[in-house]
Amino acid sequence: MSSILLITASPYGAASRGAQLAMQAVANLQSKDASLTLVQRDLSALASATIHSDYADAIIGGHSHDAAAFALSEELICELEAAAYVIIATPMHNYTVPAALKVWIDFVLRYGRSFAPIDGVKTGFLQDRPTMIVVTAGGIVSGPRRLQPDHLSGYLQDVLSTIGIDDLKFIYMDGLANPARAEQVTADGIQAIDADAVFGKKLAA
Ligand SMILES: Cc1cc2nc3c(=O)[nH]c(=O)nc-3n(C[C@H](O)[C@H](O)[C@H](O)COP(=O)(O)O)c2cc1C
Repeated sequence: MSSILLITASPYGAASRGAQLAMQAVANLQSKDASLTLVQRDLSALASATIHSDYADAIIGGHSHDAAAFALSEELICELEAAAYVIIATPMHNYTVPAALKVWIDFVLRYGRSFAPIDGVKTGFLQDRPTMIVVTAGGIVSGPRRLQPDHLSGYLQDVLSTIGIDDLKFIYMDGLANPARAEQVTADGIQAIDADAVFGKKLAA
């Protein structure tokens, strides 16, 4: 595993504020280990992909992993398996993940491939790995001054845990609709990333 997988879920792709902040973590990781390559998965390019009946049939029918219906799912899961570090930059859309990220989830959480029940409990088949999630939102969705429900972070935590990824760090850039706050949360976000034990500037002790 020698790659950093940067998943961007905003319709603005790499130009989104979340993706731009996430690049700070990428730069920090690469400054500590120049061999790390960056793999970018822009989910806005998956906008036309959706769950069709062939994919549902293949899951429910227990088709083999090389079935044509699983091609995109395999590509996305393999990309994740190959990543030493994962960074997801996602906006909040209507209190939860954007549709593009939900499509990614539906292709990556695949029964029998990335998880399966063991003794009745869904168990992930992927190795855990450090994962940072940068959440952008127009309103305030975190902290004591939260003005909106947040069905994004707990949901993503459950989803990633299902496939075995539990080492999560959330960075919130919220209240971006207020330009003065946007400047402050961007500065705070950079500071939080730089101070992080894994994604920050310092080599782990
Ligand atoms: C369809 C849609 C739904 C949105 N829903 C919410 C929401 O529920 N709460 C919120 O605070 N902001 C919401 N926003 C605003 C985005 O979260 C905000 O523009 C965010 O800063 C985008 O960040 P980005 O530059 O990383 O894409 C929504 C935006 C869109 C386009």
